[in-house]
Amino acid sequence: MSDTGNSGKNTMWGGRFAAGPAAIMEDINASIGFDQKLYAQDIAGSKAHADMLAATGVITDADRDAIHGGLDQIKGEIEHGHFTFSRALEDIHMNIESRLREVIGEPAGRLHTGRSRNDQVTTDTKLYTRDAIDGIDRALADLQRALAEKALEHAALPMPGFTHLQSAQPVTFGHHLMAYVEMIGRDRGRFADARKRLNESPLGAAALAGTSFPIDREMTAQALGFDRPTANSLDSVSDRDYALETLAAASILSMHLSRFAEEIVIWCSAQFQFITLSDALTTGSSIMPQKKNPDAAELVRAKIGRVLGAFTAMLTVMKGLPMAYAKDMQEDKEPLFDALATLELTIAATTGMVRDMVPNAKALKKAAGAGYATATDLADWLVRVLGLPFREAHHVTGTLVGMAAKRGTDLHRLPLADMQTVEPRITEDVFSVLSVDKSIRSRTSYGGTAPKNVRQQARRWLKKLG
Ligand code: ARG
Repeated sequence: MSDTGNSGKNTMWGGRFAAGPAAIMEDINASIGFDQKLYAQDIAGSKAHADMLAATGVITDADRDAIHGGLDQIKGEIEHGHFTFSRALEDIHMNIESRLREVIGEPAGRLHTGRSRNDQVTTDTKLYTRDAIDGIDRALADLQRALAEKALEHAALPMPGFTHLQSAQPVTFGHHLMAYVEMIGRDRGRFADARKRLNESPLGAAALAGTSFPIDREMTAQALGFDRPTANSLDSVSDRDYALETLAAASILSMHLSRFAEEIVIWCSAQFQFITLSDALTTGSSIMPQKKNPDAAELVRAKIGRVLGAFTAMLTVMKGLPMAYAKDMQEDKEPLFDALATLELTIAATTGMVRDMVPNAKALKKAAGAGYATATDLADWLVRVLGLPFREAHHVTGTLVGMAAKRGTDLHRLPLADMQTVEPRITEDVFSVLSVDKSIRSRTSYGGTAPKNVRQQARRWLKKLG
């Protein structure tokens, strides 16, 4: 295919220019290295535009057919690796249009009537982002399914619940996993919300002011699956909110995945041994034969750096830009593409680890009872049975915990007589709440950790997830 090279005049706007660009101009200007990812969206947009131009009488049906045929051929060339991308032609839009001219001749020149690269590029990027959001949503639903299935399986398995990473109260392993199902549910909501606002078609806003051709923007919007055309042409070509919203949602999601990944790293350490990950999702050490490293989890933990970096980069690029389009906006794509590709990896790796992980019931149960985890149950018993005000019950319990600590024993191992030296009205019945299982089973308030609650929540989600 033709390439203007550094010396040739640009075939798209050569009329105004005496010479081709300096090499450095081409280097800084070309986006084809990364925006070729948009080829399918660009071709879909051009087809919709050509259909509309024919329907409104701006071009003939014969031109439309020639354009369609040429674009189909080009799509095939790109997909089979036969297309030569040219940096001199800057971007995917001009690469395709230039090739179209080679393939079909004159009608190619009519395609760019009533549109500009400014509305074209944002239409393509919106379509790409929309597809990516749909893929992310499916992947997140799968992650939720994996979490809820595992939660159902281990709805009654005790584990320590932490605050400040200190033993707080016993919870169940299922309950802990279901916390992430909720988080991911909100993440999906954020992506869905971004998608809803994204889904307006900028095509036909042209360079910035609209066009004098009798175009039908409803028609192209509908053909491309948009809900409606955007209402203001300046806004249409300068808006990158949709990418920013997507990256913001991606950052929050990545934060959730990072927290979970950190827990996985802790859980499979030799000191915790809460779970085992199989060889499939761990790596060995070249020097320490005993090691089984949770690399996948560590990388998921780290990837938020890239995703949040993309969000920050793009927000910084957009800040302070006057209306309407500016070339700065070409800097939207690499961070966006990188973040979306990163999510695909991190979500899949997390889902893989969830399906793979085997909780170590013995270690979890032991840890669940450690650290006086049922102290709150004791305080609650003093309130419920003896009628103590909670603050007083808290004080009595604190004294009993201190007593147990001094003796190096657990709360449920303190003899009743010794407990009675602190609060004489305590009876044998108190031991019924000091066990981990009892503690867990008593947490039946809505959203609490009682196994039957966890099962209910897991089943509710699994039904919803289909
Ligand atoms: N490659 C450009 C971008 O990504 C396409 C739009 C160029 N528009 C222009 N007026 N130079 O933003």
